[in-house]
Amino acid sequence: MCGIVAYIGKQAAYPVILKGLKRLEYRGYDSSGIALFGETVNTFKKKGRVAELEAWDEEIISTATVGIGHTRWATHGEPSDANAHPHTSNSGRLTLVHNGIIENYGSLKQELVQKGYTFKSETDTEVLVNFIEDIQINNNSSLEEAMRIALKRVVGAYVIIVMEEGFPNRLIAARKGSPLVIGVGEGEHFLASDASPIIEYTKKVIYVNDYELAIISPDEIILKNLGNEPITPYIQQLDMELAQIEKGGFDHFMLKEIFDQPGSLTDCLRGRLDMENLTLTLAGVEEHMSVFSQAKRIIIVACGTSWHAGLVAEYMIETLCRIPVEVEYASEFRYRNPVVGEGDVLIAISQSGETADTLVAIEKAKEAGAFIFGVVNAVGSSIARLSHSGAYTHAGPEIGVASTKAFTAQLTVLAMMAIKIGREKKTITEAEYNRYLAELALIPEKVKAVLETHESIKEVAKHYADARDFLFLGRGYNFPVALEGALKLKEISYIHAEGYPAAEMKHGPIALVDENLPVLFIATKDAYYEKIVSNIQEIKARKGMVIAVISEGDTQIRGMADHVMVVPEVDELLAPLISVIPTQILSYYIGVLRGLDVDKPRNLAKSVTVE
Ligand code: AGP
Ligand code: GLU
Repeated sequence: MCGIVAYIGKQAAYPVILKGLKRLEYRGYDSSGIALFGETVNTFKKKGRVAELEAWDEEIISTATVGIGHTRWATHGEPSDANAHPHTSNSGRLTLVHNGIIENYGSLKQELVQKGYTFKSETDTEVLVNFIEDIQINNNSSLEEAMRIALKRVVGAYVIIVMEEGFPNRLIAARKGSPLVIGVGEGEHFLASDASPIIEYTKKVIYVNDYELAIISPDEIILKNLGNEPITPYIQQLDMELAQIEKGGFDHFMLKEIFDQPGSLTDCLRGRLDMENLTLTLAGVEEHMSVFSQAKRIIIVACGTSWHAGLVAEYMIETLCRIPVEVEYASEFRYRNPVVGEGDVLIAISQSGETADTLVAIEKAKEAGAFIFGVVNAVGSSIARLSHSGAYTHAGPEIGVASTKAFTAQLTVLAMMAIKIGREKKTITEAEYNRYLAELALIPEKVKAVLETHESIKEVAKHYADARDFLFLGRGYNFPVALEGALKLKEISYIHAEGYPAAEMKHGPIALVDENLPVLFIATKDAYYEKIVSNIQEIKARKGMVIAVISEGDTQIRGMADHVMVVPEVDELLAPLISVIPTQILSYYIGVLRGLDVDKPRNLAKSVTVE
């Protein structure tokens, strides 16, 4: 996910692009760059925020009327000046910006290297611009035709906008899987990842669809499909205000990110889960498979929501790989002189990759000789760089302080790890391996199905927005989901909430239960189901209010609970990926009903880089 802005027309392009990129920084902000078409194409790009581009002080920034810009959320190659976009082909003729992931960039790069192409960056994007150039040279074709041929061979998601030396009055854009909006002006056109950089100039927009190519000059927009057939552009009138656009039409980033999850989970699986060949590719694990398969112990360190992901991973890894797992709060691990050393595998889980407690915990374990594997969302972050190996979650930027899509992406990576290592160790059968892959492939759709029930969850929220206390209970894989649901409610609504193993109630907490205490059960169909039913009866016997996350078709708990939130059936290994979604939505709506700033809750920071 990144932000792309381009301009072609009659005013200076640089100010339009720079301002537009700042509007899109919520989509990615680790590095940025602009290319302007003066006499020739000139590029200026820097690691860091878009404001770094204000250091560009050459005359071209006030004279050029065509340009492309990019604010990056790295997927391949850590944030750096060299990895920032735009990227230029070897000959210097083509300059391109890209939003998305080219899954088969490795094989394309091998082909190009064998042909003598060289690369200044580690990105998949630079491979793409040279792949297009190579086709254009070999076929002696137009850029448009070369793009059509190239994009039929590209596997992955993209929006690209390309400038070609010698064609100063033309931009060519193409999209598949990432968003692109064209703002239609008088003698000028604007392109962007969403309408926020466009709306102040024009409200007439064209949403480009997958597999479409747009050839744009100041006075004309030609739309075609990859089969070179013309498409009539459909010009719409924008009806959203700027603030709404940045949040994709949602009221808050948190809700947008909750609804992002079918897409972010698809991105997390992209290039890794191949259902055609029944393969699971995780380079960071494969390169060190012996470390994992021979590990006597795995220690997981994390904080907050990421720590809850670690608890789920404990169940996954111990069940599938039969390797003992210890899950540690990083803040405790770092201070208690832990027993750790050679032979230990330490998995660090972190969305930001900058959490101070997790960072120091890793440093200590690394010094002691442990192998460090990072499960991180922010590419090139401190934890990612400190780790011996790792796997990025590819959830895209998470702006809301409460972690939602990062959590489910973490669970997806951890599940893939457990399945892959379990197969290697033969602690799962081939049939189980294939079944888990099939279950994984269905997750984005199942998450989408839960999201479609958000209105009914909003109705449930109305009954509990004034609660003073909440209990969240679950068993097995759903116990960490109970903890995560309690954390979400706490941090978004400021209601005191606690999560417990459901069976733990009788050891004290049940004393809290009365007619004023809502108790939320994560009660999807699994091996613990009957036990959960008994726990619900214990609560009802003491007049407690019961809310339950239940599986489709469950009539028994539906008949016992005061309110239910229904999710599709799913294998218990992956149940947390689905059962957490209603708790995210419930917390969001309770926070909104209480009139709170759900994107920036009081006292909290998105990344806790202090101790
Ligand atoms: C999650 O909703 C919280 N905002 C917080 O607990 C967060 O998970 C924790 O600070 C860890 O952050 P990290 O994943 O970036 O390391
Ligand atoms: N995959 C490209 C890169 O890592 C683009 C990432 C993005 O969409 O910002 O540079």
